[in-house]
Amino acid sequence: DKRKLILAFETSCDETSIAVVENGEKILSNIVATQIDSHQRFGGVVPEVASRHHIEQITHCLTEALEVADVDYDDLSAVAVTYGPGLVGSLLIGVTAAKAVAFAHNLPLVPVNHMAGHIYAARFVDQFQYPQMALLVSGGHTEIVYIKSEYDFEILGETRDDAAGEAYDKIGRVLGVNYPAGKTIDEWAHEGSDTFDFPRAMIKEDNYDFSFSGLKSAFINTVHNAEQRDEELNSRDLAASFQQSVVDVLASKVERALLDHPVKQFVVAGGVAANKGLRSRIERDLQTKFPNVQLLMAPLKLCGDNAAMIGAAGQVAFDHKKRTDMSLNAVPGLSF
Ligand code: KG4
Ligand code: ZN
Repeated sequence: DKRKLILAFETSCDETSIAVVENGEKILSNIVATQIDSHQRFGGVVPEVASRHHIEQITHCLTEALEVADVDYDDLSAVAVTYGPGLVGSLLIGVTAAKAVAFAHNLPLVPVNHMAGHIYAARFVDQFQYPQMALLVSGGHTEIVYIKSEYDFEILGETRDDAAGEAYDKIGRVLGVNYPAGKTIDEWAHEGSDTFDFPRAMIKEDNYDFSFSGLKSAFINTVHNAEQRDEELNSRDLAASFQQSVVDVLASKVERALLDHPVKQFVVAGGVAANKGLRSRIERDLQTKFPNVQLLMAPLKLCGDNAAMIGAAGQVAFDHKKRTDMSLNAVPGLSF
């Protein structure tokens, strides 16, 4: 049997996900149990609640992932698991479950970095070529990563404060949008226009770093000041102006990084990679300014947290002989 099958676990935040991936490129199953409903009334993820949900869901997800893929433990080549970055309690559920399966069925255990996983969501679009660059934008991270060769990651720049998705979620709260707010704000942005002049922090600075907390504060102040004057601001225009500022900053830093680091491919990944404004801007910029760079955008369904991306990254990590044993622990602050 030439098939190499990876069973992958992802529980870093608020989705419990287990997948079976064939040869690192074909998804046989990708079960995602989301907990969003339980966290919405708190306006964000409550770690303790998240851990409890993972415990409740994980065995169901495992059974379903194997059933949908129509495989048995004997068919598997390895078990891959996200061990960081993320919430420690959440990570531990996936790590413990993966260890149990690996131990019980005598399978190799492969540790996977969640952020590497996000990049590998684009592997389901096309083969990877190097050097490659990635814009990783999620609820917890905003990074530009240079990948000189396979599985060799270097962070060129990152956010100094809030992540892009975090900024979306925080301004969403001010507009009364349910957590996670990114998708709705994105939709609103397309119904409004950029009429508020929000800041574009660090856009001219000669680095690849970001800052979104000033934008977030400017946004919140604008809304609160209007409330005090009993003035109603157009929420669609607010969303459009906010999004334009975020996209401008992300796109300029990407352009700067690409000018300094020629690459064959550019990957956009992470939850915020689902943003329509960001996708079309990067697409246009690459076509006009870097026509020789192939753009790989993670499929919409695989932008958010899921185990299929961990399976794809896990296969490559496995091929690179990355292994761990029963001493594996969760590493909440894991970097590349
Ligand atoms: O990668 P992800 O699923 O979880 C983390 O690892 O953080 O990212 C979730 C983030 C949330 O902040 C959510 O608001 C944001 O991605 N998001 C979006 C969109 N869809 C999800 N942000 C902007 N536009 C979207 N369309
Ligand atoms: Zn994520």
